[in-house]
Amino acid sequence: MTAQLAIDGGAPIRREPFPEWPIFGNREEQLLLEVLHSGKWGELTGSKVVTFARDFAAFQGAAYGVCVPNGTLALEVGLEALGVGHADEIITTAYTFIATASSAFAVGARPIFVDIDPETNNIDPARIAAAITPRTKAIVPVHIGGQPADMDGVMEVASRRARTSPPARAASLSPTAASTTRWRGRCTTSGACRRAAGTSTSCSAGTCACPSGRAPS
Ligand SMILES: Cc1ncc(COP(=O)(O)O)c(C=O)c1O
Repeated sequence: MTAQLAIDGGAPIRREPFPEWPIFGNREEQLLLEVLHSGKWGELTGSKVVTFARDFAAFQGAAYGVCVPNGTLALEVGLEALGVGHADEIITTAYTFIATASSAFAVGARPIFVDIDPETNNIDPARIAAAITPRTKAIVPVHIGGQPADMDGVMEVASRRARTSPPARAASLSPTAASTTRWRGRCTTSGACRRAAGTSTSCSAGTCACPSGRAPS
């Protein structure tokens, strides 16, 4: 079967415009007003942040969740929790937002880039082994655009390395469509799938709770 691209006069696959983003309705409006009128706008006095962290962690099948101001900080907190620090290396991809790499620098580590697999647009597990050095402390796959990385492949390399030398742990950040991105039925941001994960809920992300509300788990 041959297909002509829509740009060349073929039938377009999508005929409707993409929906506006973010999507919201009366429920979001009511909840925002509830917080506004309560006068409890923060975690110290209000309950929404703690409730969100708990429910988001449960939704992912993760044991714990905590909200931090943004996805960038979620990554930094995750790396610190994994013991990544001065002179360590983390393995990730360059097809991502700058925070994936800058969070490594923020904890004193260095990002080492591995190319992506064109099938997933995410880190290619087959190329990770060649990037591992004695300084490797973590593998940080990104689930770009809501498309999950091959987590079986990533975890395989991480476990192999853990058997032979100090553990390479797998953290992950899924900046877009995070909460709905699943790999073999498990949430890609879930601790069930790896050691730690961070999620951005900025307006550019698929889990939008602007202005902020992000949970490493
Ligand atoms: C891959 C990736 N990492 C980290 C971030 C940073 O998230 P935030 O903007 O919430 O700090 C983003 C945001 O787009 C992202 O796409």
